[in-house]
Amino acid sequence: MRSHLLNDTTAEQYRRSVTDGVERVAAKLAATERPFTGISVDALAPRIDGIDLDKPLHDTTAVLDELEDVYLRDAIYFHHPRYLAHLNCPVVIPAVLGEAVLSAVNSSLDTWDQSAGGTLIERKLIDWTTDRIGLGPAADGVFTSGGTQSNLQALLLAREEAKTDSSAKLRIFASEVSHFSVKKSAKLLGLGQDAVVSIPVDHDKRMQTVALARELERCTKDGLVPMAVVATAGTTDFGSIDPLPEIAELCEQFGTWMHVDAAYGCGLLASLKHRDRIGGIERADSVTVDYHKSFFQPVSSSAVLVRDAATLRHATYHAEYLNPRRMVEERIPNQVDKSLQTTRRFDALKLWMTLRTMGADGIGQLFDEVCDLAREGWRMIAADPRFDVVVEPSLSTLVFRYIPAAVTDPAEIDRANLYARKALFASGDAIAAGTKVGGRHYLKFTLLNPETQASDIAAVLDLIAGHAEQYLGESLDRAS
Ligand SMILES: Cc1ncc(COP(=O)(O)O)c(C=O)c1O
Repeated sequence: MRSHLLNDTTAEQYRRSVTDGVERVAAKLAATERPFTGISVDALAPRIDGIDLDKPLHDTTAVLDELEDVYLRDAIYFHHPRYLAHLNCPVVIPAVLGEAVLSAVNSSLDTWDQSAGGTLIERKLIDWTTDRIGLGPAADGVFTSGGTQSNLQALLLAREEAKTDSSAKLRIFASEVSHFSVKKSAKLLGLGQDAVVSIPVDHDKRMQTVALARELERCTKDGLVPMAVVATAGTTDFGSIDPLPEIAELCEQFGTWMHVDAAYGCGLLASLKHRDRIGGIERADSVTVDYHKSFFQPVSSSAVLVRDAATLRHATYHAEYLNPRRMVEERIPNQVDKSLQTTRRFDALKLWMTLRTMGADGIGQLFDEVCDLAREGWRMIAADPRFDVVVEPSLSTLVFRYIPAAVTDPAEIDRANLYARKALFASGDAIAAGTKVGGRHYLKFTLLNPETQASDIAAVLDLIAGHAEQYLGESLDRAS
């Protein structure tokens, strides 16, 4: 069994084994014609259920053959140009190389004595990101597992900075289309279910700052504490960017922590053309960035950044066995002092490899391409009488709905759109997401693949229309 341990004596086996795996994936990527096979849960589950984990195969080739059957064949492939669903990007090769290196060396970024150079690389990338944002000389941050954790940590810091003895009094303000992790964080932080005040959005799905000002005033008048405003720079559905400079003014006026959830919009930090869309982010107290959304990084790769490094102390605990207090005086950099996690992946290496190979401009160029594609897609859908499209994109999503000329019942139109999404998924030809707008069912394209062409968008729209028409035809038959 020792032959499976990765060490000085098994380097050759490691090379062979990993190369075999890489070959399989490379062959798969090259041969993938659709983003999904369309397999159902019922068809796939027995294959996995049928495997006896107590009877190992012992042989890498046999294990990879089996993996083909239970995973690789039917996985959802984000690199395919017709994967248009959620905020998953195709990944860049330098980052995948980083992933291979980091899992083999297996540094853990909690303490210097488990990572050494890894700690310094992460710190340099944090500094690079805070510089790009413009958070100032006292800024700091830490890599996290994703936007959900980054938002949680930012709100934890905001809660600790709010001067009150009762968390029941604390209020968080976020737009009605902010990410659900804001509410989840409030719950985890013990703030109660009324803690998140939902602020309406304007026609472009941006937080209405007049309403925000009104709610902040009401909050203080009622003797409550406006703990934080969460401005979203790139909402999950619409990619809309809240008016950051106006929100910053209000936060200053009310002494409120400003958190910017730029999980999606952070790609603009590297943009060559659209950086100005995220102007005002430099005034935030904390920022969430998800490199695994718009920096073309493999999951997971995210960070929470803060204007004032000292606020990170609210996540600090010292343990004799890991990071005793004296290490602070000895200036030993232990990233666990800033993190909610203890053992932590060296995700930063992926971004490092990416920046050292492609440069930030390379990433920005790819993100600009998908933003431009979304604009083109919007023009296409807006001109197509079969569809209603909600807002002109600020980033790279399109929210739209099939509207058949002959049907006026909105519930029937809902059903046709739901059916079309499901049928498209089951066909495996393309994948679209769905959401609700004004209580009605809509479809969504999230465009994060620079390989997707306008012709792909046109083709998928035709497929959706075809499926919706089929539903409506069958529905008419049922009724007659
Ligand atoms: C605006 C926004 N914030 C936060 C998140 C959560 O990020 P993660 O899925 O990395 O936890 C998402 C995910 O889609 C998001 O769109």
